[in-house]
Amino acid sequence: MGNTQPTPPSGELRATGTLDIKDSRTDKTYSVQILQGGPEGDTATRAMDLRQIKTSPDEFGMMTYDPAFMNTASCKSAITFIDGDKGILRYRGYPIEQLAEKSTFLEVAWLLRNGELPAQPEYDKWVHDITYHTYVHENIKTFLQGFRYDAHPMSMMCSAVAALSSFYPEAKNIHDPASRDISIIRLLAKMPTLAAFCYRHSKGLPFIYPDNDLSYTENFLSMVARMSEPKYEANPIFVKALEILFILHADHEQNCSTSAVRAIGSSQVDPFSAIAGGVAALYGPLHGGANEQVLRMIAEIGDPKNVPKFIDEVKGGKGSKLMGFGHRVYKSYDPRAKIVKKLADEVFKVVGVDKDLEIALKLEEAALNDEYFVSRKLYPNVDFYTGLIYRSMAFPTDFFTVLFAVARTSGWLAQWEEMLNDKEQKIARPRQIYVGYGERPFASKLTDRFPKAK
Ligand code: SDX
Repeated sequence: MGNTQPTPPSGELRATGTLDIKDSRTDKTYSVQILQGGPEGDTATRAMDLRQIKTSPDEFGMMTYDPAFMNTASCKSAITFIDGDKGILRYRGYPIEQLAEKSTFLEVAWLLRNGELPAQPEYDKWVHDITYHTYVHENIKTFLQGFRYDAHPMSMMCSAVAALSSFYPEAKNIHDPASRDISIIRLLAKMPTLAAFCYRHSKGLPFIYPDNDLSYTENFLSMVARMSEPKYEANPIFVKALEILFILHADHEQNCSTSAVRAIGSSQVDPFSAIAGGVAALYGPLHGGANEQVLRMIAEIGDPKNVPKFIDEVKGGKGSKLMGFGHRVYKSYDPRAKIVKKLADEVFKVVGVDKDLEIALKLEEAALNDEYFVSRKLYPNVDFYTGLIYRSMAFPTDFFTVLFAVARTSGWLAQWEEMLNDKEQKIARPRQIYVGYGERPFASKLTDRFPKAK
């Protein structure tokens, strides 16, 4: 019996009840709809339904106050499902564990965008199109050479992706499906090239051009590592590890950088500019920059015997957080971290276990048994072991987040296009609750309004 495909989800919200809200200031009761998403049961009320709650007709009306959007659904989405308590992550319904084991990054990139797995002819064309768009304009090389040798590669990537939009002015036609198609192909194809060029610039090495005979991940490793040999032979363990890591990092619903891409894209700017904003958000140490910080934290600890003292410092609020631990959504073990840890074991069987891995394992063991972390539901997240694998592949620490950005481009683009196609979406423009002065007359304290700089 063939595997019975489930009915495709409607992608729509449905009313499943009402919420009665009584305003004690007016004794009025309001009834607002409870909306539900898919079978997993996410529920919400429309914030706009609260605007009717007023004490007088000329009032603006009630808003919700939610710093950092801790409990706000900014959109409805059918791309990624996370259950933070159960440690579940699925792309378009497929469990991350199965995708990591059996899929490829480009198959996942297709799935995230199109909602279904590609048939072979679709996949062949997708791989061909991406393979044949990996070159960047030669001026990008000159652009990158303008950076100092020690420029952070995420700073270079953010700039280079934004610069790419100037080479494809037609990318502004975001409502034209064909224009979106070629922009998505160009971005997926060129991110590895830009990343590799940034790496080569920082090493003072000549840029290596794409090799169309190689797969997406092999080609990336070739552009990073090839020297004088005519054909780069990638270590199959590293190719497999990178393919899996790209799959694990491809999407993660409305995380900080994806929310940034959606907000920037909602102004109807071209996708290159929106993705550049995603790179900038990912750069932050609390987000994608955490994998780099984990390695710096491990280097600072220096020896497994220093772990207890470091843990005490974290608990005492001194020094850094335990980087690579904790998550806004996962209040149990990040399912990706489990897969990465298993991958790290495989990679270290090849390259040898080192002190840093011992420190990481000791840190994890200490934290998982310590009330401070357990009570705050702080578990290893995807970044905790990833850096150790990247480092074993000889990537420099400040390059780890670039690898995250290459992979997350697939998710950012899928989310960007879903936002554009969502009839309920418009330019993102949150409100605020004003807590400043009331009106007051201007009374300057200056006696000389244009002082000459001394
Ligand atoms: C990613 O959103 C995503 O999906 C992101 C991501 C993706 O795929 O896109 O999964 C990728 O960004 C993973 C997270 C990588 N960041 C880190 O590893 C940095 C370290 N982690 C923390 O900064 C923190 O856990 C966050 C930012 C990840 C989540 O922060 P929250 O949800 O805002 O939680 P919080 O800061 O309110 O913390 C709750 C409590 C606080 O203690 P109290 O004030 O209650 O005493 O837990 C503490 C925090 O101080 N805490 C930590 C901690 N994380 C939270 N204490 C020590 N070490 C930590 N890592």
